[in-house]
Amino acid sequence: MRVQVAIIGSGPSGLLLGQLLHKAGISNIILELRSQEYVLGRIRAGVLEQGTVDMLDAAGVGQRMHTEGLVHDGTELCFGGRRHRIDFKQLTGKTVMVYGQTEVTHDLMDARAAAGLPTIYEALDVSLHDLDGKQPRVRYRKDGVEHEITCDFVAGCDGYHGVSRASIPADKLREFERVYPFGWLGVLSDTRPVSDELIYSNHERGFALCSMRSLTRSRYYIQCSLDDKVADWSDDAFWEELKRRLDDEAASTLVTGPSIEKSIAPLRSYVAEPMRYGRLFLAGDAAHIVPPTGAKGLNLAASDVQYLWQALAEHYGGSDAGIDHYSERALSRVWKAERFSWWMTSLLHNFPETGAFGRRIQEAELDYLVHSEAAMTSLAENYVGLPF
Ligand code: APR
Ligand code: PHB
Repeated sequence: MRVQVAIIGSGPSGLLLGQLLHKAGISNIILELRSQEYVLGRIRAGVLEQGTVDMLDAAGVGQRMHTEGLVHDGTELCFGGRRHRIDFKQLTGKTVMVYGQTEVTHDLMDARAAAGLPTIYEALDVSLHDLDGKQPRVRYRKDGVEHEITCDFVAGCDGYHGVSRASIPADKLREFERVYPFGWLGVLSDTRPVSDELIYSNHERGFALCSMRSLTRSRYYIQCSLDDKVADWSDDAFWEELKRRLDDEAASTLVTGPSIEKSIAPLRSYVAEPMRYGRLFLAGDAAHIVPPTGAKGLNLAASDVQYLWQALAEHYGGSDAGIDHYSERALSRVWKAERFSWWMTSLLHNFPETGAFGRRIQEAELDYLVHSEAAMTSLAENYVGLPF
């Protein structure tokens, strides 16, 4: 089989790239390790920057997002027993869209199926070949049968654990990483959200986040030890700990209920440079990971995809300027989001190793932040998304 672009991975990066390439008249196929049901079963954050919303509209998949998504004009920081609102709209003129990543993935999958575009689910042992030549090849096994695809380019959209980045010779790659000494215990519940907007809480017992998927489905997180296991936390224990990390009003009005999903995720910052090797281009989690504190993961995948589909369209239009500049252009925005995500994580979480001094520094920075329009504007413009 031959296509212009072979996409590895059917997450948001791969699906959005496939949709935008198709609209540009560029043939593509997606190879996905897991089943479609498995991919749709992932619970991931969905705070969309305006740039991401615009891309989903451009891809022709924004309808349900505008109908079911929640537009948020701001967020709240909770510390010292009080909540402080950061008014994105007043400070930046921009808002964010709260719409679960699972729904984004669903909408993109539906659009791909409607366009009759090929996706091979449960494609096993994907391997990439001749990436440094002009005719890369992708091999995979499906239902016991070996297949080979020849293409012009390979888009590595297969996440942190994928085969794409691993196919780049080690001496061609520079990696940057910070692993955080705690995790997030997350609970999904069919309960009314405790607040109209998200609440990020800095508490001496640990970080907490009150988020949502809709007006009837809430998503909550508490910072936990990396030694914790989900089985260590009953629903009641989770709700009681969450309440202890919130202000009195939130704690007293919190609607609790049975968890429909409960999981622990580690936090890391990670970047691989460059995001290109020959005819292979990395996008999304395949190239970088952010701690979820700044809700940047999906939005960085979107900006990578924006740069990549434009660069590939330029190539077929006769210019390689875009593909030659892709890695530098994408990394410029990636590192700014890495910085913001690291900063939010450092500001809001409990770091016992930094001691009483570190705690006082956090308290001073939070106090300064909520009393400085300049500081709140800086947080707001990073949270709503720096320009693509
Ligand atoms: N072959 C084929 N597919 C693979 C392989 C492989 N060897 N390894 C992984 N995959 C698939 C995974 O099963 C997954 O469906 O690649 C896809 C990668 O999707 P994501 O991990 O969601 O990454 P991405 O599409 O870049 O989306 C980034 O997802 O993890 C969140 O916070 C992150 O919101 C961000 C978004
Ligand atoms: C979520 O809703 O899962 C979520 C929201 C905002 C974040 C992280 C996670 O910063």
